[in-house]
Amino acid sequence: MAGSSFEGIEGDLNLSSARAAWNQHHIGSDAQRVLDDDARYFLRQALSTPCLNALARADGIYLEDLEGRRYMDFHGNSVHQVGFGNPAVVAAIKAQLDELSFCTRRYTNARAVDLARKLAEITPGDLGKSLFCPSGAAAIGMALRLARVATGRHKTISMWDSFHGASLDASSVGGERMFRGGVGPLLPGTEHVPPPDAAHCVFGCAGRCNLRCADYVEYVLEREGDVAAVVAEPVRSIPVIPHPDYWSRIRAACDRHGALLVFDEIPQCLGRTGRMFASEHWGVVPDILVLGKGLGGGILPIAAIVTRPDLDVMPERSLGHYTHEKNPVTCAAALATIDYIEREKLVDRARDLGHHALARMRELAARHRLVGDVRGLGLLLGIELVTDRETHARATEEADRVMYLALERGLSFKVSAGNVLTLTPPLTIGQDELDRALAIVDECLSIVETI
Ligand SMILES: Cc1ncc(COP(=O)(O)O)c(C=O)c1O
Repeated sequence: MAGSSFEGIEGDLNLSSARAAWNQHHIGSDAQRVLDDDARYFLRQALSTPCLNALARADGIYLEDLEGRRYMDFHGNSVHQVGFGNPAVVAAIKAQLDELSFCTRRYTNARAVDLARKLAEITPGDLGKSLFCPSGAAAIGMALRLARVATGRHKTISMWDSFHGASLDASSVGGERMFRGGVGPLLPGTEHVPPPDAAHCVFGCAGRCNLRCADYVEYVLEREGDVAAVVAEPVRSIPVIPHPDYWSRIRAACDRHGALLVFDEIPQCLGRTGRMFASEHWGVVPDILVLGKGLGGGILPIAAIVTRPDLDVMPERSLGHYTHEKNPVTCAAALATIDYIEREKLVDRARDLGHHALARMRELAARHRLVGDVRGLGLLLGIELVTDRETHARATEEADRVMYLALERGLSFKVSAGNVLTLTPPLTIGQDELDRALAIVDECLSIVETI
């Protein structure tokens, strides 16, 4: 979890006092043994180690630790659209294991083809050809490679503060110091622009967006003159929700300057935002759509790029020569996940519960001086804590305390950008559970405001 992190993704940069206090009171001897061995045998890395606790189980919307404490997981690394251990996904994986457990390269198999066909059906516009791989970062790498070959150019424009994966190529287009710094030269030609974040606008729009950020992307496209692709998350996971016209402006600018538009929907795909794909909110179809995380049903790792048939331009070169590119078991998990989302109407559910949650969050904002903004799209929800509502000064310590107090009360979530409580429950959550979670946040805000 990004407890004290400004970087906006999982993990703690350092042990805050709130975390140290939590550790002292919640880690039993069994968990401590696992944590000690974790520290002994794993390489340390920022945002992952030291680990917070050790888990024994994950089912539905819940995590359970070794002491049997259960936590509603409003974090889930964005893999848990269908909840943890979803029985339909587990059954599909088990059945596939008994039938065909791997597919050696040069062969294909029905499950992989079924998944590619399904993605062609559910993705917007004329996106219709796929390639699979085991991680989001690898899929971003495939998208970058395809954009280079399709356009004969190598430059990219992406957003400061964004995250597209931890490999060197994905970190080059990512905009976080944590991943870009200290590793020597990154990919050349990776230009960065400010994200469309009206609340923290570097062009000074002070919340009244005039789309100068979109104009600036076109300015860079024009000045560079040879950009292969604009690469971005249509909605950032913090969440940061762009002006309604932002993406249509960027789409038009890409078309004018011969650049492809690559949407990274790795965390937001498959219903999270109340649409099957977040980009559908703005009716903008990218040239390459990148999916991952929850595609594997919160159990298996699988990611994909989906593009237009006319961008199938690399038959003579390898685009993503991954060992598990047509793994029938990961494909079976993905098919069962999509089927479950459709059958249970989880996309509509995310939209409706999201409206309900946002209304409750607005009530919180009216009562708590710490809350500077609440926002959401479907079940991608954010409560931004500030020390000053005028300047939007980030209330980072307060956010950290709220997070650990909530954990004590059985609610786990991530703090993004240092001060945004990011709430991303499974789309299977009941309204009563959602209300209980928001009541916990309410209580924790009250405690922190009186300290
Ligand atoms: C927007 C975005 N892109 C890419 C990735 C990388 O995915 P993976 O961890 O599967 O490589 C992530 C992971 O957090 C992400 O949030």
